[in-house]
Amino acid sequence: MAAIDLEAFNHKITAAADRIKDYTYKTPLEHSSYLSDFIKANVYLKLETQQVTGSFKARGAFNKLSILKSQPGIEKGIITSSSGNHGLATNLALKTLGIKGTIFVPEIVAEGKKQVLLQEGATLQQFGLDCLDCENKARETAEVNGVTFLSPYNDLDVIAGQGTIGLEILEKLPSVDYVLVPVGGGGLIAGIAAYMKYKSPKTKIVGVQPANSKVMYESVKAGKIIYEESLETLSDGTAGGIEEDSVTFPFCRDLVDDWIMVAEEDISRGIYTILEKHHKLIEGAAGCAVGALMTNKKMFEGKTVVAVMCGANISMNVLKHIVNEHSKVE
Ligand SMILES: Cc1ncc(COP(=O)(O)O)c(C=O)c1O
Repeated sequence: MAAIDLEAFNHKITAAADRIKDYTYKTPLEHSSYLSDFIKANVYLKLETQQVTGSFKARGAFNKLSILKSQPGIEKGIITSSSGNHGLATNLALKTLGIKGTIFVPEIVAEGKKQVLLQEGATLQQFGLDCLDCENKARETAEVNGVTFLSPYNDLDVIAGQGTIGLEILEKLPSVDYVLVPVGGGGLIAGIAAYMKYKSPKTKIVGVQPANSKVMYESVKAGKIIYEESLETLSDGTAGGIEEDSVTFPFCRDLVDDWIMVAEEDISRGIYTILEKHHKLIEGAAGCAVGALMTNKKMFEGKTVVAVMCGANISMNVLKHIVNEHSKVE
C-alpha cells in the first residue's frame, strides 16, 4: 500500500480548519495538576467534551457535509451510521447546512445518546447489535436509494476534520511528547496522527482502546482489518467492528507508535477521577485515555502528555453506577 502523503494531508486538515471554524469551537487544552502529580509528568486534557454536541465528531461531520453541500444530488439527502456521537454531530450539521438525512444507530446504542438524538429531532433507524452491522445496513440502504452514504470514520474528509484537533494541540503546546487518543474506527487518531507526524514527528501517538473491544489494535497486529467479537464496554463510542476496506487502517498501522488496552475498572476509575478532580464529565471513550495514563505511569514519567477527552455524552444510569461504585471504595 502506498505511503500516506503527509504533506498533502496536512493541507486537507488546514482547509478543514477553515471550513469548520464558523460551526465548531477551538476547545480548551487544560492542564491537569492532579494527573501531573500522580504520573510525575506534565499532563494536559484536550477538552472535546466542550465541543458542540459534546464530542469531537462535529469537526468531521461539518467538514464532510460542507463539502457535500455543493455536490450534485445532495438534495436527495444522505444516510449515515453512528454509535451515537457522530449521529448527534451529523444531525446538527444537517440542520445547520439545510441537508436532509437519516441516521442509523445500532440496537444497543447508549440510551442517553438515543434520547438526545430524538430530542433534537433526528430521523433515526435502529439496526444490528454491532456498529459494523449497522454501518453495512446503512451503506446498503443508501446504495438502494441512490443517496450518499457518510461513514463516521472511513472517509478522508471526516478524518481531516478530526485532524484539526492536532493543529489546535500544536498551536498551544509545541513541546508535546505524547498524545493519547481513543480509537474506534480510527478516524480520530488518523487525523491527529497525520497532522502530528508531519509537523512534529518527535511526538508519539498512542492509541487507546477498551480491552473488551480492540478491533483496530488486533487488526494492526494482524496486518489487515480483522473481525473480532466485542464484549460490553463502558467505552460505547469506540466499540465494535470496522469496515474491511477502511482508509483509517494505513494511518493506524503506519503512524501510531504505541497501543494501550484498558480494563473496564480502569475506564471507570478514569471517569470518576476526572469528575472528582476536575469537576468535568467525560464518557467511557475518554475514560480509556485517563485509565491508560493512570496504569502506565512509568511510560509517561517526566513527559509532556495530552490526553484527548473525546466526548462527554455518558448516560445518567452509567454515571450513577460509577459514582456509587467508587464512593464505596474511596
Ligand atoms: C467519544 C468518542 N471517542 C472516540 C471515538 C472513536 O472515534 P473513531 O471511530 O474515529 O476512532 C468515538 C466514535 O464514535 C466517540 O464517540
